[in-house]
Amino acid sequence: MDHPDAHSTLKASLLALFPEEHQIAEDCRILSPLHQRSILLDGEMHVWKGKTRPVHSPMCVRGADGSLTHVELGSYPMTGTAEADAALAAAERAYDHGRGQWPTMSVAERIACVQNFTNQIIARRREIVNLIMWEIGKSLADSEKEFDRTIDYINATIAELKQLDNGNSRFQIVDGTIAQIRRSPLGIVLCMGPYNYPMNETFTTLIPALIMGNVVVFKPPRFGVLLYYPMLEAFRSAFPRGVINIVYGQGNVVVPHVMASGKVNVLALIGSSQVADQLKKAHPKSNRLRAVLGLEAKNAAIILPDADVELTVKECIAGSLSFNGQRCTAIKMILVHQAIAERFLRRFCEEIGKLRIGMPWEKGVTLTPLPEMNKVAYMNDCIADAVGQGARVLNEGGGTSVETLFYPAVVYPVKEGMKLYREEQFGPVVPVAPFEDIHTALEYVISSDHGQQVSIFGSDPDQIASLVDPLVNQVCRVNINCQCQRSPDIFPFTGRKD
Ligand code: G3H
Repeated sequence: MDHPDAHSTLKASLLALFPEEHQIAEDCRILSPLHQRSILLDGEMHVWKGKTRPVHSPMCVRGADGSLTHVELGSYPMTGTAEADAALAAAERAYDHGRGQWPTMSVAERIACVQNFTNQIIARRREIVNLIMWEIGKSLADSEKEFDRTIDYINATIAELKQLDNGNSRFQIVDGTIAQIRRSPLGIVLCMGPYNYPMNETFTTLIPALIMGNVVVFKPPRFGVLLYYPMLEAFRSAFPRGVINIVYGQGNVVVPHVMASGKVNVLALIGSSQVADQLKKAHPKSNRLRAVLGLEAKNAAIILPDADVELTVKECIAGSLSFNGQRCTAIKMILVHQAIAERFLRRFCEEIGKLRIGMPWEKGVTLTPLPEMNKVAYMNDCIADAVGQGARVLNEGGGTSVETLFYPAVVYPVKEGMKLYREEQFGPVVPVAPFEDIHTALEYVISSDHGQQVSIFGSDPDQIASLVDPLVNQVCRVNINCQCQRSPDIFPFTGRKD
């Protein structure tokens, strides 16, 4: 935005989006802060008297003078290495080298425990959804979707296990050898999920790990800790003691400590490659440790000259900006053919102008406050770096921010050497680069360190087919004329490369 008046007008309207306290809908309010003072260890709730960490929301309330105050959500225990050791010891006892009650239980009994747990958390859906919304700023509709999708995932996991178990009961006779081939648990699984899907992504490793007979030590993500408080009693009562143990506290102290014990058999982490590297190295027995990882991604959209512009714009908006671009699967780079770039960008910016920005409980809202307090500075840094090297912000108001509200920016043309070209921005900045020769777009994907998904937009089936073949060996899902995404959750979801 070139005009200083327009800039201050947008800033004023962003400020006005933060409500005064009385304007928050009754049923969405945090009535009183949730101060968690109990921890679940070895099947029992213990009162925590040690240090705690306050939790503030990305949402603020606006005072009469225009000042903004982050809403206080509560606090949680800052447990340390002593509690982590106790959690590991409880998990070890519960597993008992594979001889414990849980790993030797019948599949039907384990399923019954998971169903009991699921029924208990369904009864607390509203509370949990409200905490997801307040802790990470996800829209109410998407927070509800996250909860419901997780329940579907649990049910699908149960169905899958039943099928697996049926298959396992058969005997095979090969060359005179009679065999029963079964999957077995691995031991202690350390589960850690990300803040953008604090419930769903955590449960996509935690539930399969548990239901197969493993025992779990679980660390909630950086943002999205309190939402587990209403689940503590369900964890305690649905599973035998020590099967599930939760650790809190300073992640970079507690988690390496847990790994250094050498007692973890599986690291299930959805987070950064840097953390994964450190944690794997902290484990003294590298051959014992298995790692199930979901790391950074930088999914590209490749827009061919004959793409349907309206469809492409719609999918690229959803792909790059739903939940403010804070999805691992988000489209984080748009590569558009020069012949269509002008038309695409004009419509793309127009549609961004129609997106609703505001508080997550507002109907139809897409853009909401960002939970990471330093995110706005990083977004601005990325934009300044690109602008300094010759790019422009194309959309009106792009990059304007007030506190945690950041108005999305479309940055063009982005080139090699700019941060936005290779870094995973994980936020509402959309880098766009033009290409003339399709090999330039392919080369971008080939030379990327990331290998999760790609989207191709075009209308010539032969050309699309000729791109699918080289791309399937670069990424794990090639989407045609639609955004990148994880769902349907029954499909394989993984990544390759670094
Ligand atoms: O952030 C990673 C999520 O698993 C993405 O799921 O593509 O369905 O939003 P989604």
